[in-house]
Amino acid sequence: MAEYRDEILNVSLYDNEECEQLKDAFNSAFPKTDAFMSIEDGSLTIHLCQLDMVKFREFLSTLGINDALKDVAFEIVNKIGSYGLRGSKRHFAGYNAERKVTNRKAKEQDRGKHYYANDNNFSKINNQLPFEYENKIICADSLELLKKLPDNCIDIIFTSPPYNFGLEYDTHNDTASWNAYYDMLFGIFKECIRVLKYGGRFVVNVQPLYSDYIPAHHIISNFFIENKMIWKGEILWEKNNYNCKMCSYGSWKSPASPYLKYTWEFVEVYCKGDLKKAGKTVDADISAEEFKSWVVAKWSIAPERHMKEFGHPAMFPENLVERVLKLFSFKNDVVLDPFNGAGTTTVVAKKTGRRYLGIDISQEYCDTAEKRISDSDCGQQTIFDIIE
Ligand SMILES: C[S@@+](CC[C@H](N)C(=O)[O-])C[C@H]1O[C@@H](n2cnc3c(N)ncnc32)[C@H](O)[C@@H]1O
Repeated sequence: MAEYRDEILNVSLYDNEECEQLKDAFNSAFPKTDAFMSIEDGSLTIHLCQLDMVKFREFLSTLGINDALKDVAFEIVNKIGSYGLRGSKRHFAGYNAERKVTNRKAKEQDRGKHYYANDNNFSKINNQLPFEYENKIICADSLELLKKLPDNCIDIIFTSPPYNFGLEYDTHNDTASWNAYYDMLFGIFKECIRVLKYGGRFVVNVQPLYSDYIPAHHIISNFFIENKMIWKGEILWEKNNYNCKMCSYGSWKSPASPYLKYTWEFVEVYCKGDLKKAGKTVDADISAEEFKSWVVAKWSIAPERHMKEFGHPAMFPENLVERVLKLFSFKNDVVLDPFNGAGTTTVVAKKTGRRYLGIDISQEYCDTAEKRISDSDCGQQTIFDIIE
């Protein structure tokens, strides 16, 4: 049986008949074992095993349909970066079959998966978040506030903690000794793990302090692993900000001490007890195209450029939160951000139909978070929406 790679095209904007014409003509012109098209719910799927791209281009050029539809159909195949070549055909599936591991399942069983987390003693009994904390922004030290919550009552945590870079926050001192900093951070993270449901996700955006050679993403991951959380994966958030410094003093064009440049941050994803999260299919709000694009774990998203307007020095953009929430949680889930800042996590939770609890130690930031939520409540555009 042929193995296919599926590429999904949203064709709801194109004429139905022309889409059908494209599908039927394609299915007659190419052998099904190479590729075929299908249409369902306004999406056209190209099931690809192998394809001669020159012939595909010629085929499209002779077809009497809208040029824009031809272009998108060609591009969705042409832009696939990973393929093998055999003769004049690109191979999209099974091209590296010869490199495949045999008896994969048995070998996995012999090795054991996520061995570091399997002897956890997390309770599987989940609880409701008490009503007084639902859809709330609370000004408090998260260490104190979280102690008031029952075990296992949060579906997903998404946060970016302060990184101890020396930023000028409203109240938080961002230049502690590293030991004091990690004591503070891990004290709060331990409470977060306790309140997370069995099967819940803990997603943390981390930026290492490269200039001081502090690999915060590794130190934080170590903490999660020691606390029996399962590493689900890591997203590389590509910010494309190429304005980092080129070298450290005395090392220009010399191996003495070149300074590596980074244009990205990390998003670490950990699970409590189980990789699979409970939830109803009707509450999954991610589209097929979003899913296909976002499971490729390199996300190119511009940094938040309007922190001044929101009066906060270290915000992440709404788009990052939207992807995390739609990919890792269901509608109506409870979202917690224990370092909520100007409230990006909570406003996106609200906009995407999730319940939320945002905690920040600064009253000023909490007021901003409340305002963003009430603006989105009235259907009013936030500064972010206007600028987008
Ligand atoms: C990197 S910022 C988060 C920004 C947020 N992601 C946004 O987009 O607005 C970290 C936040 O942690 C808050 N913070 C620091 N220590 C805290 C604590 N012990 N409890 C609660 N919040 C704290 C700071 O006030 C700051 O707003």
